[in-house]
Amino acid sequence: MSSESTGLSSQRENWGSRFGFIMAAAGSAIGLGNIWRFPYLVGKHGGAAFVLVYLILIAVVGSTVMMAEFAIGRASRKSTVGAFWVLSDTHSWTLVGWIATAAGGFIILSYYAVIGGWTIKYIIGSLTDLMPMAAEGKSGEVFSAFVSNSQEVVLYQVIFMALTMFIVSGGVGKGIERACKVMMPLLFLILIVLIVRSVTLTGAEKGLEYYLKPDFSKLSGESVLDALGQGFFSLSLGMSIMITYGSYISKEENLANCAGWIITADTLIALLAGLAIFPAAFAMGVEPGSGAGLTFITLPGVFAKMPFGNVFSALFFVLLFFAAITSSMSLFEVSVSHCIDDLKWTRKKSILIMGFLITLLGIPSALSLATTPEGNPAIAIAGKSFLDAMDIISNNVMMPLSAIFTCIFAGWAWYDSARKELTNQDTITFKLLPAWTVCVRFVAPVAIAVIFYMGLKW
Ligand code: PFF
Repeated sequence: MSSESTGLSSQRENWGSRFGFIMAAAGSAIGLGNIWRFPYLVGKHGGAAFVLVYLILIAVVGSTVMMAEFAIGRASRKSTVGAFWVLSDTHSWTLVGWIATAAGGFIILSYYAVIGGWTIKYIIGSLTDLMPMAAEGKSGEVFSAFVSNSQEVVLYQVIFMALTMFIVSGGVGKGIERACKVMMPLLFLILIVLIVRSVTLTGAEKGLEYYLKPDFSKLSGESVLDALGQGFFSLSLGMSIMITYGSYISKEENLANCAGWIITADTLIALLAGLAIFPAAFAMGVEPGSGAGLTFITLPGVFAKMPFGNVFSALFFVLLFFAAITSSMSLFEVSVSHCIDDLKWTRKKSILIMGFLITLLGIPSALSLATTPEGNPAIAIAGKSFLDAMDIISNNVMMPLSAIFTCIFAGWAWYDSARKELTNQDTITFKLLPAWTVCVRFVAPVAIAVIFYMGLKW
């Protein structure tokens, strides 16, 4: 590969193949957000009308930021903090790297692993006692009992983190890429099985209609904001991931093309997830919501009413587990590669120390969802559970800040080099360069600033 030509880090590993890289980056992008939030937003904001808005926004803003992040990563061949350090004249840009790394590699992963742990518990539960309880309408009680059992939630969180650490210990090619090349096609296959089951249930049409029938009257300013926020979270932007993953891309690769594939895969899976969820829920007479409630309370109730519900429930939670762990690997690689690059630690030492610290930070999140006798979260910050507070700090504050400054850096301070990186040093044509330039300089930072402002207000 061409690592010598960068003159920066001749030792750095590269992705084994283009397919492997796309699977890994799509694995990061496709996560809980695609399955428990996107379908709900589509249903809420007018079906196909919202999909149209979402597609326009990710095509304009999401792809712009993703390409900027890939360019920064590949040009520097460093993880995010080091990338801003080597590429900028004034090292103050490094602060942007710190914000993104702390948000993605540390805070998000700490609570993402808690939810990842729940998926393991529910795979086992689906095959044991979950279905009989859910059939009696008690899936809410099952969930509350589980999240109130401090030993169990922490145990599953630790198992999930340990699995993430194990895969990432194999490195980028033999660990992350290899795992994603197996898990992502399997995830797709399971989703297809679930869709076939869902749309062939009697009464499924009502769900399809609710999900997809375009209703432009439901579109509002809030729809646009929801679409933008979801787009950023879903594509794993502003969290240092695509910079870190970009640092392992070969110099010959066409970055715009790769971004196109990843965005297409992410959107396809998000759309398909709705086809698995809504027809089944409506056929069983349940109107689904979003988030943990939909996944861990509503859906077990839906599965319990189907023949072989335990099998479909287990398959669904395996799908969710794959979605979660391929995202958590990317989050973990952010902090591990930072320690390797900037602190010169070995991969093993970085994994052990960072894995320990991230697990520790996750424990208050794991314990926070039990309820006190007064009905409040057991561990709360300003009335929100610790887990929700971590989510808000990282996604509503740190992510938009790092994304805005990433755009300003790539569009203004480092523009000439960004342009060269996107055209592989002027050896390939990137026809949309003028459009990208306008987006990265003006459209994307303004759009993200609006989400930031609204996120603070809510
Ligand atoms: N993109 C993932 C999802 O849609 O669930 C989650 C995620 C992973 C968000 C990594 C942010 C991130 F940095």
